[in-house]
Amino acid sequence: MTRVGVVGMNYWGPNLARNFARLNDCELAWCCDLDEELLERHRGAHPTTAFTQRFEDLLADDALDAIVIATSVPTHAALARASLEAGKHTFVEKPLALTGDDARGLAALADERDRVLMVDHLLVYHPAVQAMKNLISDGALGDVFYLYGNRLNLGIVRPDENALWSLGPHDISVMLWLVGEEPLEVSATGESYLQPGVEDVVFGRIRFPSGVSGHLHLSWLDPHKMRRMTVIGSEKMVVFDDMETERKITVYDKGPIPHTETYGEYIQVRSGDIHIPKIEGTEPLRIVCQEFVDAVREGRRPAADGHAGAMVVRVLEAMSESLANAGAPVRIGEGA
Ligand SMILES: NC(=O)c1ccc[n+]([C@@H]2O[C@H](COP(=O)([O-])OP(=O)(O)OC[C@H]3O[C@@H](n4cnc5c(N)ncnc54)[C@H](O)[C@@H]3O)[C@@H](O)[C@H]2O)c1
Repeated sequence: MTRVGVVGMNYWGPNLARNFARLNDCELAWCCDLDEELLERHRGAHPTTAFTQRFEDLLADDALDAIVIATSVPTHAALARASLEAGKHTFVEKPLALTGDDARGLAALADERDRVLMVDHLLVYHPAVQAMKNLISDGALGDVFYLYGNRLNLGIVRPDENALWSLGPHDISVMLWLVGEEPLEVSATGESYLQPGVEDVVFGRIRFPSGVSGHLHLSWLDPHKMRRMTVIGSEKMVVFDDMETERKITVYDKGPIPHTETYGEYIQVRSGDIHIPKIEGTEPLRIVCQEFVDAVREGRRPAADGHAGAMVVRVLEAMSESLANAGAPVRIGEGA
């Protein structure tokens, strides 16, 4: 039985508490928030869990194996550091930290203390994204040319976080995982229509060493609600649409036919079947929580570990630098 405590019980934390509480091999031992009223709201759902306003109570509980941090982003680094230093396995909401240095420091600390550090890169564990990863690694898509993500909504406008930091971690973590390379260079442009200095629309680009490029369109000022990732390969193309309930993934047997004859002949396109594989409907957050508990029990590093989390933060940081410099590319890979 892994004993877990959740810190931060406002909007997202209760979802984590619910999922950890439902796992067979896990006990939700603590719920913590600075706000007593919030705690009161959730006591009924977890009658055997201890509730506290003091994070220190979790650190001091020797029988507590792991701490789950679902507080506001600026507090992640300090709370995660305290948790790891207290010898707790640590799960942190995305993004891991606000700076690449803090994020890398946390990943190194977890290694040093031999503790599991996992970041909630939820979509990496989505069964549809796993299916996309398999299509890429099996070679079914052929050579990957490029991929792009659209995360758009006329949604909650956050005063303290731009669209890049709020929405970007999802698509960036998926792109890094699907491509399986460390990025070489990134760039981003964006506009602040609603609040000065807080971009509500961002277009980003990641260049990978193999030549693959990833493109992002992130916005909370758009008529469409879109959660989509498209991968274009030389043999097939695949679309993951998280707004769909039954057609999460659509695989298009479409591609260019390489011309082998005379120079100047136009390239023809091949257009074959469109396939919709069945995707398991398990809640991705449940899979993520189970993966954390399994990684703690087995003493192994999950795919979304501290190092993966730190690379996502590095990309966000470099894209912010590019945003501030009218889209100038920022090199982050070898030779930076
Ligand atoms: N993975 C996802 O899809 C997803 C979705 C939404 C939010 N999130 C992430 O979840 C996290 C929380 O988001 P939110 O919208 O619930 O944030 P929020 O700011 O609304 O709530 C944070 C809560 O943490 C509490 N808190 C802050 N510092 C604390 C401390 N030292 N000790 C105890 N409690 C403390 C606050 O009182 C507040 O209730 C963020 O990192 C966000 O990025 C992830």
